[in-house]
Amino acid sequence: MTTPEIRAAYLKFFADRGHAVIPRALLVPYNDATTLFTGSGMQPLLPYLLGQEHSAGTRLVDSQACFRAEDIDEVGDNRHTTFFEMLGNWSLGEYFKAEQLPWFFEFLTSVVGLEPAKLYVTAFMGDPKNNIARDEEAAEIWTKLFDAKGIKAEIGVIGAEEHGYKRGMKAGERIFYYDAKKNWWSRAGIPENMPAGEPGGPDSEVFYRFDDSEHTDDEKKQWGELCHPNCDCGRFMEIGNSVFMQYIKRDDGGFDELPQRNVDFGGGLERIAAAANGDGDVFRISLLWPIIEQLEDLSGTAYNQNSAAMRIIADHLRAAVFLATDGVAPSNTQQGYVLRRLVRRAIRQALSLDLKEDFLETIIPTITELYRDDFPEVASREQIVIEVLVAEERKFRRTLEKGIKEFDKVVGAKLTGEAVFKLSDTYGFPAELTVEEAKDRDIKLDDNWKADLDKLMTAQKERSRSATAGQFKGGLVDHSEMSTMYHTATHLMYQALRDVLGQHVVQRGSNITPERLRFDFSHDAKVTPEQIAEVERIVNEQINNDLVVSFKEYPTKVAIGEMGAIGQFGDRYDETVKVYRMQGKDAAQPFSFEICGGPHVDHASKLAEGGKTFKIIKEESSSSGVRRIKAILQ
Ligand code: SER
Repeated sequence: MTTPEIRAAYLKFFADRGHAVIPRALLVPYNDATTLFTGSGMQPLLPYLLGQEHSAGTRLVDSQACFRAEDIDEVGDNRHTTFFEMLGNWSLGEYFKAEQLPWFFEFLTSVVGLEPAKLYVTAFMGDPKNNIARDEEAAEIWTKLFDAKGIKAEIGVIGAEEHGYKRGMKAGERIFYYDAKKNWWSRAGIPENMPAGEPGGPDSEVFYRFDDSEHTDDEKKQWGELCHPNCDCGRFMEIGNSVFMQYIKRDDGGFDELPQRNVDFGGGLERIAAAANGDGDVFRISLLWPIIEQLEDLSGTAYNQNSAAMRIIADHLRAAVFLATDGVAPSNTQQGYVLRRLVRRAIRQALSLDLKEDFLETIIPTITELYRDDFPEVASREQIVIEVLVAEERKFRRTLEKGIKEFDKVVGAKLTGEAVFKLSDTYGFPAELTVEEAKDRDIKLDDNWKADLDKLMTAQKERSRSATAGQFKGGLVDHSEMSTMYHTATHLMYQALRDVLGQHVVQRGSNITPERLRFDFSHDAKVTPEQIAEVERIVNEQINNDLVVSFKEYPTKVAIGEMGAIGQFGDRYDETVKVYRMQGKDAAQPFSFEICGGPHVDHASKLAEGGKTFKIIKEESSSSGVRRIKAILQ
């Protein structure tokens, strides 16, 4: 099966079992300020796992595009990628282990056609401290499933981290108990690290064994005495994780049962495809290999000689295409900074392949081609994605040229931390490249260059932090009455923009003076005159409705989780946040519900005093993928 066929088969398998197929969420979460990116399938579904009703029902299936910036430095081996698709199926308080584990097993063995003998599974060994029992039910289900395939699966306890997982698997063992570090899932990890209000639960993982032989005593010689499915030797790869999301952390540190028992299943599409290939190199699957082949062509070099560089380029550019599709534009902050880093790292690796010419314009269509049928937004935004990323490529190459020119002026007989900092800070020339260039030119590195550089970087960060402190006040520069009114108008307009243009609209900046408001937000296209008129109409309507403006402090997680407050996402908030509510007297829901420091007027009708109406006076591009609106009350 090709990778897209596996994806389609998975969605169908669960649709046939009563699941509604739901679209992926964007890579930039709009209602979760705790994280820059969607990194798992459960993140966008958190409110529903906590009990909110989902409009598509209680059984859901999807393939969620995920991005994990924290893995950026791991990319280069045969399995790590920053971008991947997580196949997910969800029971919101409905079916549980007895359905989930057999379904996934059937999907892997009957649909994808994996040999059951190559599958190994794990379950939670229990946590007496937190009064959570060993998951014998899961182990029993697995025993029966293997038994039905004629495989006698013995149970082994690998143990806990404090013992270093120092017990290798024994011949015949196939079901393994591990501690919370391996078999407990929450966004924060093990039970001890979970904040109050965070849901989590024990999980059961499935691993695929890539070598051919059963685990015999002989084999131990090859894989080591201590090999087991969760070790890092490369013999096994995790391909799916069924989380039994049934607990929530209490304020006193203990656990309560959630009102509903959920299943949160996540399986790496690319990894399942690698298992189907019988090849542990995920870059050889049909969704990645064409990119590698093109890199071989463009560079005239072979994958097996340059696998790390080609993997980094393929992964980073695929991720960049999806991020740009979802409205991220390269910049020096937040998501934009990560996108910039991806593109620049890819280009640096290309240089190591002697690929010195611009190549993004050639390679991006290869990537979009792989996704155009299954993610139509990738096809429909192809042109803007090419524009945005190619512009970044050109910019970076200019930076590199300039940096090389300045190198001689800045660098003396020895390379110092100050010189590295100056080239990076003033000319954007990456520190790693300066060091490489110095080595190429046989210039010695000063003994303290690294420590000095770190010191200068830290001081620089401090400076920019003080410069932005207080910026998150809705962009309010003074507290005059007019500015306060514009601030309230900004909230109304933000919500109206999301209503008219869509949920991809996320605040990117705000600046308010007594004369006008200015608001930047993610959106790829010009806002049409009709859309502007509609936004104006909605804002004026809400002003006339005389919404009551009030605020309350909430724990941040609650505000952005169940309550769905919006904000300038990507900002790090404190434990609690102030949330402003603008709600009609008889309305069941607030019109606007936004994290904000204030201040605001107390009644929206104040904005109309003296016969004023809200009017957008300018709409323009601010940077690629970001629009800027100026509006007044007149
Ligand atoms: N939440 C789990 C994970 O990310 C399963 O979807 O692995």
